[in-house]
Amino acid sequence: MASQSHSAVVFNSSQVFKENIFDGKVLFCTGGGSGICRAMTDAVMRHGANATIVGRNVERLTLAAKELSDATGRMCIPAQADVRQPKQLQDAVKKTIEAFGKIDFVICGAAGNFLAPISGLSENAFRTVIEIDTLGTYHTIKATLPYVRASRGSYIHVSATLHYRATPYQVHVSAAKAAIDATSAVLAIEEGPHGVRSNVIAPGPIGGTEGMNRLSAKGTSTREYEASIPLGRMGSVKDCANAAVFLFSDAASFITAQILVVDGGSEHVRPLT
Ligand code: HXC
Repeated sequence: MASQSHSAVVFNSSQVFKENIFDGKVLFCTGGGSGICRAMTDAVMRHGANATIVGRNVERLTLAAKELSDATGRMCIPAQADVRQPKQLQDAVKKTIEAFGKIDFVICGAAGNFLAPISGLSENAFRTVIEIDTLGTYHTIKATLPYVRASRGSYIHVSATLHYRATPYQVHVSAAKAAIDATSAVLAIEEGPHGVRSNVIAPGPIGGTEGMNRLSAKGTSTREYEASIPLGRMGSVKDCANAAVFLFSDAASFITAQILVVDGGSEHVRPLT
């Protein structure tokens, strides 16, 4: 496998796509206060969109919204909501409509995770992750769909690759993400006739994220991870952001019901036996 780091090949989407492709567009992003979803919001705003970021931690959200606005020159507003609470999401959507008048793009990204074996996982722990990831996605779709239909807009759901095979200590997230993949596909085929697209981004090993910090096998170094990835480096949140820019852009106008895996080829590696 690749033995050398290639971090220099992480591009910004503005090096590839025109800067104004999302002028006048509005993004609604759950989980946008940090990590991959924040990077996606940053990239979409740098191409011209205004945004609402949704999360539970109002301090983190408020700071992130200010930093995103300052960095991009576009407007980002924070909307505190727990995606498990439909009414809170409806209020976040209302705030977005009052501020921007429409919603074109939605990122369903709020998620929760931890490592736990089935034998040690309580019913409430399993339910909690299903409620945040899967029901949170459902509630977000329900709250935004009338507006996304009106703008003939587009959804991106942030999933994972760990459920493609059996990943130990991840039954709760595997079940939740498999349901999200299915939800996205059904949304795509039902709403396609209304001009709405729905796709999934499935990040693999993305460095510096809360998910990676929580899931990294103890004692595995970054160098060891990189050696197992065909493209020879850990993913960056920018890699996921670039994928989001592509999927929201008109370059992806005939792409729906798809899963775009952003993992440097990791998912396809099968060691020789
Ligand atoms: C076993 C655990 C646990 C752990 C919590 N629980 N942590 N069980 N091992 N490490 C149990 C609790 O004991 C409780 O069950 C139940 O889960 C609910 O826990 P709460 O803390 O009350 O829930 P809540 O405050 O809502 O927090 C939700 C959370 C938390 C998911 C547990 O970790 C969270 O808020 N996470 C958000 C941030 C996050 O996880 N980011 C990473 C996302 S990465 P009992 O029975 O005791 O009541 C990601 C990517 C996946 O999702 C793919 C990566 C490759």
